[in-house]
Amino acid sequence: MQISEIHQWLNERNPDKLATLWQRADDCRRQHIGDTVLLRGLVEVSNICRRQCTYCGIRAGNHTLTRYRLSRHEILACAKLAADFGFGTVVLQAGEDLGLTADFVADVVQAIKEETGRAVTLSLGERDEADLRLWRKAGADRYLLRFETSNQELFQKIHPPLPLSTDNFGVRDRISMLRMLREIGYEIGSGVMEGIPGQTLEDLARDIFLFGKLQLDMIGCGPFLPHPDTPLGRDAAVSPNPMLSDTELPYKVIALSRLVCPRANIPSTTAIATIDPAEGRKRGLSRGANVIMPNLTPIQYRTLYSIYPNKAASRETADETVATALRHLRELQRPPENG
Ligand code: 5AD
Repeated sequence: MQISEIHQWLNERNPDKLATLWQRADDCRRQHIGDTVLLRGLVEVSNICRRQCTYCGIRAGNHTLTRYRLSRHEILACAKLAADFGFGTVVLQAGEDLGLTADFVADVVQAIKEETGRAVTLSLGERDEADLRLWRKAGADRYLLRFETSNQELFQKIHPPLPLSTDNFGVRDRISMLRMLREIGYEIGSGVMEGIPGQTLEDLARDIFLFGKLQLDMIGCGPFLPHPDTPLGRDAAVSPNPMLSDTELPYKVIALSRLVCPRANIPSTTAIATIDPAEGRKRGLSRGANVIMPNLTPIQYRTLYSIYPNKAASRETADETVATALRHLRELQRPPENG
C-alpha cells in the first residue's frame, strides 16, 4: 500500500466505505493469524524515568508522582501469575530507569525463563547495545520500542535529548535501535501515538508505511491522551489536535497496520480501552487486532504508572482485568491462546 492510499483511508469519513476497510482488515487477520487472540501479561516494573518526554506522565520532570520500582521477588510473582493464567508471554515495561541495571534485568529474565518457561518481552526504553545483547543472551525474546512519530522534527520536540548528551536521540536513532535489536535476534515491536499536537494525518500515513517497511513483528498504537502534569498535555488542553475529533482514527490505524503487516501481532491497546471502556478493546479486535495485554502489575502500584490520566483498569486487580478480557473474547466468539 502506498502512502497516498493510507492517507486517503485516514481521511475517510464515509461509514459505508469504512465498513469495507474494517472487513478487509478482519479478513486479513483471519487469513494470516486465525481467530485466536493472544493474551500477554503486562508488568509495569518501574515508573522511574530519566527522560523528559513532553507527553508522558512519568517523565522525570513530573515531581508530583510517587516513584516505585518492583523488587525481583515482586516481578517473579507477577510472571508466575501470568503463567498461572496460562499466558505464554510476560511483558516487562518501565520508564527508562537505569536503576534497572543490566545485570538485574538479565537475572530477572533468566529466572522468569527458568521458573515459568514463558516468553519474555522487554520494553525498557533506549538502552545501550551491550545491555540489549546481555538481555537477549539471558533469554529475552522480544523488545518493544515505539518510535512515536516518524516526523523527525516533531519527535525531537516531544522527546528532548538527555542532558549533557552529545547525541540527540531522534526518531532515526530509535529506528536504528529497532534494526539493531532485530540483528541481535529479538522480535521487534514498535508503534506511534495518534493526535500528538502538531502531528498531521500525512505524518501518520508515513508512520504506517514505515511499519510495513520495517516488517514489524508487533505493532502497538493508541491515541495521545493529554496528561495535565506534562507540557504537551497542558498545550493540548488549550488546542487539541483536530485529528482527534475522528473517533474512528485509532481503529483506522489498527486496520491499516494489519494490511501493511499481515502477520504482525497487533494489540488492542489500553489507550483504546481508555477512550472507549465499553467497546474499544472489542472494536480493535474486530478491525485487525489479535492481542490483548492484561495488566498484572500489583494493584498498589497501578495508579502510579500514570503515563496518561484515567488509564483503563488502573484500579482493578489482575483477576478482574483478566476476567474482563476473557468476557470480551467470549462476546466476540474469539478463543484465547497462549503465546
Ligand atoms: N497518551 C497516550 N499514550 C502515551 N504514551 C505515553 N504517554 C502517553 C500519553 N500521554 C505511550 C507512548 C509510549 C507508551 C508506553 O505509552 O507511546 O511509548
